[in-house]
Amino acid sequence: MSAVIYPGSFDPITRGHIDIICRAANLFDKVIVCVLNNSTKKSSLFSLDNRVNMVKNALADEASGDIFNFDINKIEVASDDGLLIDFAKKNDVNIIIRGLREVTDFTIELQMAQANNTMAPEIETLFMPTNPKLSYLSSSMVKEFASYGKSVSAFVSPSVEEEIIKKYSQNYSK
Ligand code: PNS
Repeated sequence: MSAVIYPGSFDPITRGHIDIICRAANLFDKVIVCVLNNSTKKSSLFSLDNRVNMVKNALADEASGDIFNFDINKIEVASDDGLLIDFAKKNDVNIIIRGLREVTDFTIELQMAQANNTMAPEIETLFMPTNPKLSYLSSSMVKEFASYGKSVSAFVSPSVEEEIIKKYSQNYSK
């Protein structure tokens, strides 16, 4: 059975992430979405548990919606507070997939893929170009708009927007 890990901090998961998960699920028998911490980013808005729940709920939203077409049964959601390569080894999966939005992503992603491959040569990273319609989208941008009270319903799944509303409830307008 072919399996791939799609790792990220998902703070929070956006429709850009869902697009990659959906396309990966069309290529592999199993996609393990792994929620991790990114030590290069300042502290997360949402806790690890909260991010995992948002990923699960967003996938459930989109599986029954009409934007994406994927088999939710092929997707597992996990989390880890350690290294990605150790998670991959524990789960006996040696392919990682990462989405590339634009050139600045490439520089960082190449470095991460090469570092991981040096530490664990059996683990390969594959890059998937994002859907051009979603290439501007990032979790940081979603948080920025939401923090100023703007609706982010175009960028995230309904259940994720609900969580964001709870965080920024004081000045949020739908
Ligand atoms: O969504 P992000 O923030 O771009 O994802 C980055 C992430 C979480 C995949 C990366 O920071 C990561 O792998 N974190 C786990 C710790 C780790 O393995 N660090 C070494 C990376 S070279």
